[in-house]
Amino acid sequence: MADLLSPATFGALSLRNRLVMAPMTRSRADPDGGATELMVEYYRQRATAGLVVTEGIAPSEAGKGYCRTPVLDGPHGVAGWRAITDAVHAEGGTIVAQVMHCGRIAHPDNKAPGADTVAPSAIRAAGQMYTDTAGMEPFEEPRELSSSEIPVVVDEYRRFASLAIDAGFDGVELHGTSGYLPAQFLSTGTNRRTDGYGGSTDARVRFPVEVLQAMAAEIGADRLGLRICPGNPFNDLEDADVEDTFRTFLTAIRSMRLAYLHVIRLHDGGLDNLALARGLHDGPLIVNDSYGLAEAGTAIADAACDAVSFARLYISNPDLVARVAGNLPLTAFDPRSLYLQGPAGYTDYPTAVNS
Ligand SMILES: Cc1cc2nc3c(=O)[nH]c(=O)nc-3n(C[C@H](O)[C@H](O)[C@H](O)COP(=O)(O)O)c2cc1C
Repeated sequence: MADLLSPATFGALSLRNRLVMAPMTRSRADPDGGATELMVEYYRQRATAGLVVTEGIAPSEAGKGYCRTPVLDGPHGVAGWRAITDAVHAEGGTIVAQVMHCGRIAHPDNKAPGADTVAPSAIRAAGQMYTDTAGMEPFEEPRELSSSEIPVVVDEYRRFASLAIDAGFDGVELHGTSGYLPAQFLSTGTNRRTDGYGGSTDARVRFPVEVLQAMAAEIGADRLGLRICPGNPFNDLEDADVEDTFRTFLTAIRSMRLAYLHVIRLHDGGLDNLALARGLHDGPLIVNDSYGLAEAGTAIADAACDAVSFARLYISNPDLVARVAGNLPLTAFDPRSLYLQGPAGYTDYPTAVNS
């Protein structure tokens, strides 16, 4: 496990070990999207991770999809998140904000009254999502963004990056997978545009490229990460040629030299998306999905990646790093409390020495 516990530098980010806390939506924000005291405690408990990636945070009200998810502006935005970044830094940790615009994966009851649901094309996603008001509900049919609106949305991401630095974050991670807005632009099933943002592969990758460029110009590419999962069909996503899309996308951003690329692997025997990413990205690589600690240690020892992120293990093992260092047993999590309000199943998992 020595490799997992060794320090690393990703661009301007210092990691004291190679265990990354993966982004996880936990729906504990205020109804207005503000960060809460409970969230401060949750992130403080997990601050010994080499890098904490926050839950997805929306760059605008239109970008919200799920209930009780946070935004960075608004009444308590920057101040609320400042309390979180201060708490993580006081423990010696490093924390980046994941920017997540849900696009069409949204329901109006989960966002402010009047906030739009927008997407590259007006195609409703198949499926349902949870609302506090009516339980499971179909996704809303999105409104197609006009050509002149797209630069406005790109600028929301730029502003998010600026606010993230104001809130004390060490950097920002762009959520580029799981069927949310950047993935909707990338994929042929969700992008039927005929302007400069759809049609050819070059046109489909343009939106996420412009988003990354805008955020890099604001805070520096060395504070910017990107999360992808080429071939992930989650949230009704479909692309006619995923490999071509991601070859084009990763080639277009290669010279930016992002702080890191965060890649979720596939398990179905389809595209080897880790190999694809490794071939087209020269900098630090974080890998994810269903890694156990032993496999993670081997992946780092073999130089297959630079760090491994853990989501579900971090739910119930806030002191995961100490457990690795001390070879202590792991605690299982309760899936029933993932998205409930309050501390149960959120901040009440004990550390190994107290359990
Ligand atoms: C409760 C929960 C919420 C999640 N929310 C997000 C999110 O907001 N952003 C994101 O990129 N991934 C999200 N994910 C995916 C995880 O980051 C991760 O990719 C997945 O759980 C696989 O990693 P694991 O095997 O270590 O759990 C979430 C996963 C879980 C379990």
